[in-house]
Amino acid sequence: MSSPETTSPANLAQEVKSRRTFAIISHPDAGKTTLTEKLLLYSGMIRTAGMVGSRKNKKAASDWMSMEQERGISITASAMQFTYKDITVNVLDTPGHQDFSEDTYRTLTAADSVIMVLDGAKGIELQTRKLFEACKLRGIPAMTFVNKWDLPGRDPLELMEEVEEILGIHSSAMNWPIGNGRSFKGIVDRASGKAHLYTRTSAGGATRPDVEIVDLDQIPAEGEFTESDLNALKEEIELLEEAGNPFSEEEFLKGKVTPVFFGSAATNFGVEPIFDALMNLAPCPSPRPADLPDGSEIEIAPEDEKFSAYVFKMQANMNPRHRDCVAFMRINSGKYYKDINVKHDRLGRKIRLARPHSLMVSERSTIDEAFPGDIIGVINSGQFAIGDTISAKGGFKFKPLPFFQPELFARIRPKDMGKRKNLDKGLEQLVAEGAVQLLWDWEDLGNYPYVAAVGRLQFEVLQFRLEDEYKVLTHLDNMPYESSAWLEGDLDTFEKPFNARVCRDQQDRPMVLFTDDWEKKLAIKNNPDHQLLDYA
Ligand code: G4P
Repeated sequence: MSSPETTSPANLAQEVKSRRTFAIISHPDAGKTTLTEKLLLYSGMIRTAGMVGSRKNKKAASDWMSMEQERGISITASAMQFTYKDITVNVLDTPGHQDFSEDTYRTLTAADSVIMVLDGAKGIELQTRKLFEACKLRGIPAMTFVNKWDLPGRDPLELMEEVEEILGIHSSAMNWPIGNGRSFKGIVDRASGKAHLYTRTSAGGATRPDVEIVDLDQIPAEGEFTESDLNALKEEIELLEEAGNPFSEEEFLKGKVTPVFFGSAATNFGVEPIFDALMNLAPCPSPRPADLPDGSEIEIAPEDEKFSAYVFKMQANMNPRHRDCVAFMRINSGKYYKDINVKHDRLGRKIRLARPHSLMVSERSTIDEAFPGDIIGVINSGQFAIGDTISAKGGFKFKPLPFFQPELFARIRPKDMGKRKNLDKGLEQLVAEGAVQLLWDWEDLGNYPYVAAVGRLQFEVLQFRLEDEYKVLTHLDNMPYESSAWLEGDLDTFEKPFNARVCRDQQDRPMVLFTDDWEKKLAIKNNPDHQLLDYA
């Protein structure tokens, strides 16, 4: 019998098996929000899509907030949970645009897989590449959705090649578009060899289109889709059969091949196949590596009945009426229940996880139980830092979260010199929360530190919180560096480009700051015996 505190092994295994925790990664405007919304439409959470209002002003997290407000869906500031065809889906929020920050990268550590959305006219764009690199680093399996096929786009074969060349991963077409732009009418499902022909409804993309499944030779050449388009399609399909990468589930799970789907999130053409594939192919929560105090490594399986989780994101509430900070944790094993007592590995003491909640716009609702793959938010009054492990058993900690190469750098100093202590104290806490990275000049340690970030918003939040919580107004002097790398090798023999600067990070590791990517490439070329790493 299961009580609120326990669950049977079979029940826990079932909960694990029926969970998909994933993130959608893309460059801004490729269609991440639209696709997320369509997932809600197809899961039955919403009856019509298109409710987010004009997206022109507000993006990402705020879009989610309006989804929640308008539809009453439970969304924490970090993940959205709902059911799709009997699977419990957790979609992690990976803010882009002006909200892009180190949090966006760290959130990916909580994902078991990702959907990478590409704009069919643009292919791989900068932010997609960076986010994909972070996934590759951890071997997270990625599915690719080539979006906006209802608009004139690029050659599909060329896009597949671009994925391979730029991202260094094999691509395997799971389906193939029938026409493009105005002639886009459906997809050919390669596994079954059948064509899915869509008809737009009068409601446009707000509801599901009608779909007719026919054999390849029954695809009608009509309207914009001509006889020669049909012949070209047949040739492409043949070519794929002969020369395309075969799909291997095993290689996909290892992150070596990405299955590619074509479609249009706006009209819903081709969205269901990728959602279904996510449920059928994408992995459920799997064992996570952890370190024991003696330095040996163990794996914590999600089916382990003892609860464990780690903190991957911290969010301060900027609203003065709710001046608190929430630590977001991903559950890695066992079952969470209300008021569970757990061990906090770093602090070496027991704590009670009271009142985890979904952070709502207008109200907060508490969660009674949660399982591996789920995200819970807990009020943090200083006891949590990014990467902390909490567990019922204690005695181990999950692998530390990687640091990601910052691209923005500034020297920070108090406006009032007498406030140095406040600044140091504030920086210590905010750095523990992962708000920014802190660097010191390699030679000149006594000076004010540099703050480093991957997104401008991180600096804005830092200054706001230093003033608000630590009563110190600060100056940020921007520094002329745009890229960085951790240096491995002998510092004395490192040939530093003239304008580059060597710093020390929070772990005393040398990091080199470069004025641009070209300078970094030069440093890599000139220092074959050194390693310049994007992650540490
Ligand atoms: P993002 O979250 O990745 O930033 O992208 P988002 O979904 O907000 O989409 C960016 C723009 O692209 C939106 O237009 C959206 O409607 C449009 N879009 C998304 N998917 C498709 C598609 O499959 N086909 C076409 N033709 N357009 C698509 P917008 O003008 O910025 O907003 P809206 O006024 O249309 O809502």
